[in-house]
Amino acid sequence: MTEIKTMIYVIPEQIRNYLDSLVPPRVAELAGMEAHALEHDFPIIGPACGHLCYLIARMTGARNIFELGSGFGYSTAFFARAVRENGGGAVHHVVWDEELSQQARKHLGNMGFNDIIRYHMGEAVQTLRESDGQFDIVFNDIDKNAYPASLPVIESKLRNGGVLIIDNMLWSGRIFDPADHAPDTDGVREFTRLITASPNWITSLVPIRDGLIVALKVAGG
Ligand SMILES: C[S@@+](CC[C@H](N)C(=O)[O-])C[C@H]1O[C@@H](n2cnc3c(N)ncnc32)[C@H](O)[C@@H]1O
Repeated sequence: MTEIKTMIYVIPEQIRNYLDSLVPPRVAELAGMEAHALEHDFPIIGPACGHLCYLIARMTGARNIFELGSGFGYSTAFFARAVRENGGGAVHHVVWDEELSQQARKHLGNMGFNDIIRYHMGEAVQTLRESDGQFDIVFNDIDKNAYPASLPVIESKLRNGGVLIIDNMLWSGRIFDPADHAPDTDGVREFTRLITASPNWITSLVPIRDGLIVALKVAGG
């Protein structure tokens, strides 16, 4: 994983903590996953972003969701809850680490979501390319250098009127450093340029945690 482990937040701590404090308490399994991520410095999206993902999925009535880069299933749980409350469907969990896939099966199973989750182990963009169907939401949290190449694949698999959510679009502020041309930093910059310049998307960058782009697909693919 090329994501920097210890996140440097652009958003002031007071605001981050306030946004997290507004999220309803999580079930014990999910709270345990937050504690584990903190202890092991594993980059989960956290409560405020998770809750926003849940809200978007509820608002749009999403029944078919594809996640790229699912880790041990923390973000997946927010989408799975929304899909269940929307009447049922599928959330695709994709990660290339076997151990994380196994952990996700345990956590999401303990939360009673195994009838909704479709587990895949492998490279996420390739897995999406090979998947049938048109998705209501695609959530992208893979290695950042791979973001630009993922866009045409996502565009072909998300239905018109579907929503793309993509994490780390402020990339710890590294995008603002003109000397930083690490592949991940350039990947975030290039993805942002591509999607905001495309007539196929209506896009907003929400400055929450490390920055989430939320984009509505209005044409294309
Ligand atoms: C940022 S973490 C995921 C966190 C998760 N979305 C959450 O918030 O709970 C990204 C995970 O995806 C994996 N990953 C990164 N790039 C990937 C790719 N191209 N295909 C499959 N897995 C990938 C990483 O190894 C890591 O386990």
